[in-house]
Amino acid sequence: MIIFHKFAYLLLIFQPIVCANIKFPDDFLFGVASSAYQIEGGYDSRGKTTFDHHWELNSSMVADSSNAKTACDSYNQYQKDIDLLVDLGVNFYRFSISWPRILPRGFPNEVNPDGIRYYNNLIDGLLAKNIQPMVTMFHFDLPKPLQDLGGWTNPVISDLFEDYARILFKNFGNRVKYWITINSNTWGYGDSDWPPMVNQSGFGDYLCVKNTVLGHAKVYHLSKREFREQKSQIGFVVDGRWYEPASESSQNRDAAERAREFNVGIWLNPIYGSGDFPAIVKQRVKTTSEKEGFSKSRLPEFTPDEINFVKNSFDFLGVNIYTSFLVKDVDERNDKDFSWDKDMKAEIYQDSRWEGAKSNWLKVTPWGLRKVLGWIKQKYNNPPMFITENGFSDGGEIEDLGRVKFMELYLKALLEAIDKDRVKVKGYAAWSLLDNFEWLVGYTEKFGLYHVDFADPHRKRTPKSSSKWYKKLIERRQLDEMYKTEL
Ligand code: BGC
Repeated sequence: MIIFHKFAYLLLIFQPIVCANIKFPDDFLFGVASSAYQIEGGYDSRGKTTFDHHWELNSSMVADSSNAKTACDSYNQYQKDIDLLVDLGVNFYRFSISWPRILPRGFPNEVNPDGIRYYNNLIDGLLAKNIQPMVTMFHFDLPKPLQDLGGWTNPVISDLFEDYARILFKNFGNRVKYWITINSNTWGYGDSDWPPMVNQSGFGDYLCVKNTVLGHAKVYHLSKREFREQKSQIGFVVDGRWYEPASESSQNRDAAERAREFNVGIWLNPIYGSGDFPAIVKQRVKTTSEKEGFSKSRLPEFTPDEINFVKNSFDFLGVNIYTSFLVKDVDERNDKDFSWDKDMKAEIYQDSRWEGAKSNWLKVTPWGLRKVLGWIKQKYNNPPMFITENGFSDGGEIEDLGRVKFMELYLKALLEAIDKDRVKVKGYAAWSLLDNFEWLVGYTEKFGLYHVDFADPHRKRTPKSSSKWYKKLIERRQLDEMYKTEL
């Protein structure tokens, strides 16, 4: 009876997934992703981050008041992670290096040898199993002393980031082929939910974008100047959310395009496009700033030298793809308050009928994947891309059929993007290898292909159905008849 029930359910969820071309290109790379803060633990062996600091001030900023002091304990148990990666059969593992584990205070004058040793072990362990490391230098874990200087709003950050990157290239660059400079966002600069809670939307967040882009470009040029022989591939990661007009009216279509430019183009146009912020972003922020009584635009300018410097500072682009939004035009406001949203002049929301994951923002919209990749292709001349994150949240179930379905739908859309739209996607990383510390929601939402028992001091890892499914997919390199797989 139970067997019949399970079988019927599987047929139901996989039935609509029929694709024309079901095979991935021969050189396509499969991987999984994680980030240092979310999995490592090893809190006493690194410097403090902004997130640590704010959690100490107010632990209830995290939904279950939990923290990442031990997390999955990958700092001690990385060999277990490598074993899981081997079992999955992935070609690459995207992980991040914790800046304060290498430089406890963020500054380059004091290097932590244990941190260097830890990442050496991890990198060597991966290479010994023929798994390529794809290493992110910064994934939301800024050393606290650098936040005291203003973090990403202070232009000095781009030099300090370059100093940090030099240490990474020196120590690990002989073995790491793929580097991601920054997993970009402006969290905390325009809002009060996220550390550093600067809450200066329309000013702080724009400064953060400019300095992030400059920091990225400095590291790109550093790699080509001082470490050319390492032949690294350098990329930047953007959150590839798709913004769909709520209707076909020209106002809503324009609003959706503005939303794309304010959220995706603002990062990509400098690096992958003209070298400057998108024209519509420049124009909107200038006009609203003037009306509010500013002497010049709140959006910082790139000088002509900076434009030349940041333009084309990439070997590839990483896109994190989770979800999509609808966009409506809104009326122009004429008050003195300023914000990114006001500049964008658009309302962003999701259709309540869309199927959702556990995270309230994560609606299952595989069609958005194809649209966002197509938009990037057309805007930026089809750069080589990786999907650097794609994943689904639930309560941590071992039989995580929702995640399997999600991945299958998104991978099918990805195949279409490659075959029909000819976007140059070279690889895909599932988020995430393990259940882990999901930032402001702590351990209440899980993204892992492997369950982690957070009550167990050894943090026992258990494969979920999705890991078995993904393993089969990697083995066969195609999407058909996956429902027959023994989950
Ligand atoms: C972030 C991850 C996070 C995931 C799910 C991504 O944008 O890079 O750190 O866990 O979203 O919220």
